[in-house]
Amino acid sequence: MFKTLALWVLGMFGLLQLVQIDIPQPPKQIDPNKEIKAPKPIMAMLKRSCYDCHSYETKMPWYGHVSPVSLEVKSHVKEGREAVNFQEWGNYDDAKKQKIYKGIAKTINFRMPMPMYLSMHEDAKLTRKQRETIKKWAKSHIKEEAY
Ligand code: HEC
Repeated sequence: MFKTLALWVLGMFGLLQLVQIDIPQPPKQIDPNKEIKAPKPIMAMLKRSCYDCHSYETKMPWYGHVSPVSLEVKSHVKEGREAVNFQEWGNYDDAKKQKIYKGIAKTINFRMPMPMYLSMHEDAKLTRKQRETIKKWAKSHIKEEAY
């Protein structure tokens, strides 16, 4: 009885692996000049805590390939890159950049990096002080005074 159940579960899990989505391949040549330019400490934080979803430099964990987790992980990377790709910064117009700076100031305290991601990535956690530093940097680029 147990054996049948175990086999059944295993079989379902195996079948699930057929369901995969792919994040689009990064371009062959990534132009380093297009990457966002920020002071070194900011760059270090962005790379450590944001680049997995907001750049082409996604370091995929092993479970990132195991369905159904992979469906979730890959869609985050896909949507994350679509929202902001720090390596495509040079291609963004002013309006888009402003929107992102505002978005960073708005999301850095709670929404970004995504809490689910942080629960699996101890090293991507930011202290309150680090969040404040990022927020200050983002705000310093926002043009409207009324922010
Ligand atoms: C696990 C993946 C993941 C990580 C890590 C991550 N993001 Fe995101 N980010 C997303 C996804 C997915 C979206 C698009 C959906 C949404 O807005 O929630 C997004 C959207 C955004 C947006 C636009 C949202 C808005 O409302 O303007 C900003 C700005 C942003 N992220 C900044 C950051 C910053 C800064 C970091 C690092 C400190 C970070 N993200 C880390 C996945 C991620």
